[in-house]
Amino acid sequence: MTKINEEIFGSIGRDIPRIGADAKLKGSAIFSNDVALKNALLLKVLRSELPHALIETIECQDALNTPGCVAVFTARDIPGRNRFGIINKDQALLADKKVRFIGDPVALVAANSEDSARTALSRIRVTYRELAPVFDPEVALAPGAPLIHEKGNLLGTRLIKKGVPDAAFEKADVVIERLYQTSFAEHAYLEPDAGAAFVDEDGCVVIYATTQNPHYDQADVARLLGLPENKIRIIQTATGGGFGSKLDLNTQGFLGLAAYLLNRSVRMTFSREEAFLSTPKRHPLKIRYKSAADKDGRLLAVDVKIIGDTGAYASYGMAVVTRSAAHATGPYEVPNVHIESIFAYTNNPIAGAMRGFGVPQIAFAHESQMDLLAEALGISPLEIRRKNLLRLGSTTATRQELTASVGIGECLEAVAPHYERIKKNAPLLDKRVLRGVGLGCMMYGIGNTGVQNPSTAQVELQSNGQVTLFSGAADIGQGSSTVLIQIAATELGLDPDQVNLVNADTGLTTSAGATSASRQTYISGNAVLDATKKLKETLLTQAATMLKTSRGVLSLRKGKIVDSSNTERFVSMEQVAKRSEREGIPLKWQGFFDPETTPLDQATGEGKPYATFAFATQLAEVEIDILTGEVTVVKIVAAHDVGRAINPDCVRGQIYGGVAMGLGFALMEEFIPGKTISLKDYHVPTCSDMPVVEAIIIEDPEPTGPFGAKGVGEPALIPTAPAIVNAIADALGVRIYFLPANLERVMKAIHSGAIKIRVNPIQ
Ligand code: MOS
Repeated sequence: MTKINEEIFGSIGRDIPRIGADAKLKGSAIFSNDVALKNALLLKVLRSELPHALIETIECQDALNTPGCVAVFTARDIPGRNRFGIINKDQALLADKKVRFIGDPVALVAANSEDSARTALSRIRVTYRELAPVFDPEVALAPGAPLIHEKGNLLGTRLIKKGVPDAAFEKADVVIERLYQTSFAEHAYLEPDAGAAFVDEDGCVVIYATTQNPHYDQADVARLLGLPENKIRIIQTATGGGFGSKLDLNTQGFLGLAAYLLNRSVRMTFSREEAFLSTPKRHPLKIRYKSAADKDGRLLAVDVKIIGDTGAYASYGMAVVTRSAAHATGPYEVPNVHIESIFAYTNNPIAGAMRGFGVPQIAFAHESQMDLLAEALGISPLEIRRKNLLRLGSTTATRQELTASVGIGECLEAVAPHYERIKKNAPLLDKRVLRGVGLGCMMYGIGNTGVQNPSTAQVELQSNGQVTLFSGAADIGQGSSTVLIQIAATELGLDPDQVNLVNADTGLTTSAGATSASRQTYISGNAVLDATKKLKETLLTQAATMLKTSRGVLSLRKGKIVDSSNTERFVSMEQVAKRSEREGIPLKWQGFFDPETTPLDQATGEGKPYATFAFATQLAEVEIDILTGEVTVVKIVAAHDVGRAINPDCVRGQIYGGVAMGLGFALMEEFIPGKTISLKDYHVPTCSDMPVVEAIIIEDPEPTGPFGAKGVGEPALIPTAPAIVNAIADALGVRIYFLPANLERVMKAIHSGAIKIRVNPIQ
């Protein structure tokens, strides 16, 4: 990593300990389930056991007569508009006319104890009229399919066109066309969805929640309850993982409803089974991918069709429709493009946001295609990537010109020596274990796709000389609080521990938007920088008056405003604060940042949907036991262009976690609707599955980023599965087209007979 000048960069690039880590390690952090409100009633949800049905009657009297049961709520009790969702408001808090998946909430019970709540739930009688369900998105879109939503079963489409793909396919030297499929995946965060709520003395409904976006929750709950937003306050608790699922309301709506209607404290925690049933999953995608190249390995065209299943409700499905299409060409320059993405509603569980919004799925397809093209042309996977990678001045599929911070070439070259070295090793380890090595490259647009996604922040110098940063950004374990403090501290010439933080409380902070789309460092970082620069301007102006000198000679160092020409002359920040207080000069400033983007054209997909992109290359070395089909990932080398690593340890932390999640996506995580209900059936990687991970940080500074930073949260995961799948193909000579590449699928590939090194495993 580049060595940076501490005068200018302060704590930027330093591994200061992550804020909140100490409390989590010691077990003192207050997670959502730990919030102990006095005499809180316990809430439980009655969920549909049918995938598609009309509700005829709901009989609650028996339930209400249960000792200890305080209330039973149904859709009729919802005072506001019974629809929520951030992009499409199509989900009911409690089903009104119909249920659309197994797990759809129908009634809510409030009781004095767990037992009472459970008994009351079992006494609610619902009569349904069953409707024909549909579980396949293509069937859902076919004529005559059962109608899941009144507006139809189509969630949305996205079309991206560039050049003349048909002509390019005609003259290509090689064309590869394959079908790729992925499965539903569950986020499986350690902390369950939980929360607590009460009504304060001003009639404000205060909700403690494990969430990625307190301000969006506030708006959604206010609408459900028919209250103005200032009557809802969301306070984020310590959050044990979110990965996209905690972008949607989980417990907040139920907590708000019961607390408000009963004017009592309430709490609830989803069981693991309930989370499996009801929280959004990763979208399973079916991707038909056709690529063309010339004999030198230059990409000429791609034609991609993506079919997505968003399940019963939209959740963040539209973000996935668009983002999967916008990233379908990967980090490569492709002159001729036709990409179509179509998502449908089904009666499956809801699919929503999950780390990467469709890019992990599409990267599996484009990276498999690159290796297939290389194989067909007889060139190496490294070489074909070198020839086609995006560089400065390249244009993306949406015809966005890349003008800065395109570090993908540097990422590939950082990994290349490892690839060459492992490639030289023998492919056969012993009679039954084969070795393989694979590459995965990716790009990822930081922030939401072609829509406004602003952030704000406030920074204040108090009259006691203390500096406090107020940020709405929810730190869900990735380290945004630490990074935002490093940015504010550096700009004010302070050490990070001299800046206090108030965050993710709608009562005390302004909106930073969602912790999503790998956006907080870049977007909220810039908002923090903007607020801090404004405060700094005020301090310099004040100090110049106090020191009777010009502002130009002053700088901020360790809590003092110093005359650079004579460092004996200074005033402390506290002195400036005291004077400002007497003069009535405000020392709390608000900052704003909204990345410069344009929406994608509806007909052509042309646009500048992201202000900046992160890039990465990962390498996977695998060993495969051809007797059992077991794939062991031995090593991952992960090179990530993050623009600037504000906190390299936090960047590495994201990479290690991303690799773990990517390994799960590649090899084991498969949620089967109606079957998977617990971690017994849903395998996530453990320590013993983890390879040696070598993280390489590449810094190609982004001129519009705070100190050059971009982001890494989702990029960390995206190239892992492609690298593993390519390594499996390298080892076996047979490719897996359906993720996860679990034991069964690997065994099937092995028995398909095309293993390039033939051994008799039984010998
Ligand atoms: Mo993420 S899928 O942006 O939480």
